[in-house]
Amino acid sequence: MTVRQLPTADLGLTSLLRAADWPGEDLRGSAHVQILDEATLGPSRLLVVASRESPGTRYFVPVLRAEPAREAVGHAAHDRAVVEAMRDRLALPTAAGNVIQFDGDPAPFRDTRPFDPGWSTNALSLADLDGALHIHKAYRRIDADTREAHLLRLMHRGGRTQRWVGDYHYVERATGRRHPLGLLYAYAEGDSLDLPLRHSIRSMWPILHGGAEPAEAVAAAQRGLTGELPAVGRFLRDFHTELADRLGPTPMIPVREYLRQTGARVAALSARISADERYPRAVRDAVVVALTGELDQATASAGVPWPAGPAHGDLHLSHILRQESEGGWQLCVIDLSTPAADPADPVGSAQSPWQDIVALLRGLDIFTADEFVHQAAMRLGTDQDDTCRTVLLISAGHPPDTPGWTPSRITALRRMHDAASRWAGQVRRLLLTGYAGPPENWQEHPAWRIFRLRRLLHELDYAYAHDQHYHAAINLRHVLQNYRPAGAGEN
Ligand SMILES: Nc1ncnc2c1ncn2[C@@H]1O[C@H](COP(=O)(O)OP(=O)(O)OP(=O)(O)O)[C@@H](O)[C@H]1O
Ligand SMILES: [Mg+2]
Repeated sequence: MTVRQLPTADLGLTSLLRAADWPGEDLRGSAHVQILDEATLGPSRLLVVASRESPGTRYFVPVLRAEPAREAVGHAAHDRAVVEAMRDRLALPTAAGNVIQFDGDPAPFRDTRPFDPGWSTNALSLADLDGALHIHKAYRRIDADTREAHLLRLMHRGGRTQRWVGDYHYVERATGRRHPLGLLYAYAEGDSLDLPLRHSIRSMWPILHGGAEPAEAVAAAQRGLTGELPAVGRFLRDFHTELADRLGPTPMIPVREYLRQTGARVAALSARISADERYPRAVRDAVVVALTGELDQATASAGVPWPAGPAHGDLHLSHILRQESEGGWQLCVIDLSTPAADPADPVGSAQSPWQDIVALLRGLDIFTADEFVHQAAMRLGTDQDDTCRTVLLISAGHPPDTPGWTPSRITALRRMHDAASRWAGQVRRLLLTGYAGPPENWQEHPAWRIFRLRRLLHELDYAYAHDQHYHAAINLRHVLQNYRPAGAGEN
């Protein structure tokens, strides 16, 4: 592939990469960004770039020819050119002899509309195609493992995910490999599942502060959800069934090796937690004992079959969209990230639908913890980080060690914590009842326990790697609350 040193005229690209919030350190910190390949599409240059230090990590950066420091996605002229290229099934040759292959059957482009997707790894814009809203998603990382376009083509007729309308790929001449660059799909009206949950828990606090018992406050706050959440659970079960029908079976999970890796990760993280002097020694010790205890117990009973099967791969509350309708919520799951089975890495690519549900419920617990801490800090006039840390200490049976935690504040904190835990427990039960039918003991199944442990390890690793003390404190507390033997400490 031809490698071009960035000409001075591309200083625009350098400043784009410096200013944007998405480039990793490899691009932002590099003084040597290289354009590896490029093509011209209407008003835009479609660039394939990498830093000289990590040439294997390639990025797709469409920029406007007239304004090289502006990303093109979201500009009507660019979105129009992409949609027209799909309609024409254009095979666009690139400077280095490769091809960008457009495909699809979109309606004629009218306009690009304002759209704020929140923080996103990729570039998203909202396009009006003959009066119907669509999303154009351009992948910034060039990665043959990005499978969303492929998955939507398989799944979209089932109506449980976005309707596929078109896509485009970077096709390398030498290898024939196809790397997804972008996707066009129908916009799903509505909002994501965290919104009704936020409304519900927010409506609980005034009831609780008005003197109601926690159980009573939870019941009142969830009145509007009790019919809908089991339907969300059923929807997810049907989604998994459809995914398995369309993708076929996945390999068995190599349990022994999976457990060995989990053990290694528990050991590494335990060392990190033990060395974390932000918390009293007794608290750190309690967390490490709880983590290793859970690993040992789940491992001891792991010799039963584990459920394998394709999973969404990145399920969290905001990837479930819902729209209110006469007959209840209409649901749609977005951002399908089902990993491909990788014979070279059977453990890393092992998958089970339970991983999705575990991840979703962890998302619920973190959401609840964040809401509780935020509300408690506001109510008590305390600092949010300090409140979060203090709840961890109390959960470990350790007295608060920062000023201001009077007995009455602690009592109020416990009461709010109790209500938040009940609220989350009830949401969990409603979702699981829908997913699994009548509640069974499968949350005690070793596979479930190990998946949940892995998710917690992942969250903690991430929090430590990104120096997120607040989130680490939440996760450490959840370790204690989930895994501490009854009777130990305060919880
Ligand atoms: N079909 C859709 N209908 C409505 N909103 C959507 C749709 N697709 C995406 N969005 C909005 O855009 C956001 C980002 O979309 P998506 O999660 O697919 O992007 P992503 O770049 O893969 O994000 P992430 O970094 O979270 O993986 C969604 O959380 C949602 O708010
Ligand atoms: Mg994504």
